[in-house]
Amino acid sequence: MQVVIVTGGGKGLGKAIALEYAAATATAAAAATATAAAAATATAAATATATPTATATPTARATPTASESVVVVLLGRELSALSAAAAELTQATCVVKAVDLTQVRTLPSVLAELETELAGVVLGNAVTRAVLVNNAGSLGDIAHTVQDYDVGALPAYFDMNVTAFAQLSSWFLKLGKTIGAQQRVLVNVSSLLAVQPFPYWGVYAAGKAARDQLYAVIAKEEEANSVLTLNYAPGPLDNDMQLAVRSQIGDVAQRTYYTAAFNDSKLVPMKDSAGKLVHLLLTPGSFTSGSHVDFYDAK
Ligand SMILES: NC(=O)c1ccc[n+]([C@@H]2O[C@H](COP(=O)([O-])OP(=O)(O)OC[C@H]3O[C@@H](n4cnc5c(N)ncnc54)[C@H](OP(=O)(O)O)[C@@H]3O)[C@@H](O)[C@H]2O)c1
Repeated sequence: MQVVIVTGGGKGLGKAIALEYAAATATAAAAATATAAAAATATAAATATATPTATATPTARATPTASESVVVVLLGRELSALSAAAAELTQATCVVKAVDLTQVRTLPSVLAELETELAGVVLGNAVTRAVLVNNAGSLGDIAHTVQDYDVGALPAYFDMNVTAFAQLSSWFLKLGKTIGAQQRVLVNVSSLLAVQPFPYWGVYAAGKAARDQLYAVIAKEEEANSVLTLNYAPGPLDNDMQLAVRSQIGDVAQRTYYTAAFNDSKLVPMKDSAGKLVHLLLTPGSFTSGSHVDFYDAK
């Protein structure tokens, strides 16, 4: 069994990642089943024609086992959106939990409840892999440069985009151990802004850089413990957040650039970016733990 937890899983990129992960795992399980069935047929044919002294071959598996099933946990503020996304995840067992990630004081108790719930769901199953996709994020103030910030809004921004992110990561590392996950994988949905500054992106860039560095540190701390981290920049996506960028950004040159990218269909479809991330996650050795990988550079 695999357990995949996606923050901001009710809509946008988070929902696309949940759908792609469940679909890719189901496809892999179906392929494994088909291969096993073919092997079983070949074994039966070989056994029928073999001499009585032929060595017995191991019994091939004809149906998927629990090790190939996926439990997807969707977190976000809007329960109706989470439930609607869960209804689309027909290939997975779903758990949804409404949580406002700006509420960092109450987040530990919400996560403790979730842990209890999850322990019941995975009970009796071997968890081959637990994945946290720390995807939830917000733009913050992109209408102003830093000198014109409403500084009163800064704590709420960093609570949600950095503090809650770190709280979730710490909780997940312990959760993975509690449920006996053989491998723990943490994904930061990052941005080009984490590694390249542009004007008007002050809090957003600072938050993403902090997240990247936290995951680079975890990669070092947990290197010997079957923990991988990945900072994935998904590219400029064709979605609600990009619509907000086009309408809110204070920099005319960037507004023109993003508007042209939208009009010329140059924005990245969420399914494509989510699919690339899932491919990275399901392909052993495809990324260096702790690294920053951009959609445009990922194979
Ligand atoms: N769109 C882009 O072009 C782009 C480019 C690079 C990186 N990214 C990153 O990709 C990630 C996903 O963004 P998106 O493009 O899918 O944008 P989006 O449609 O605005 O989604 C943001 C997600 O974050 C969740 N969220 C926001 N505030 C929250 C809060 N207080 N508590 C809990 N959840 C909250 C939302 O869920 P609820 O509304 O249900 O709470 C939603 O699922 C973000 O980290 C973003 O920075 C996006």
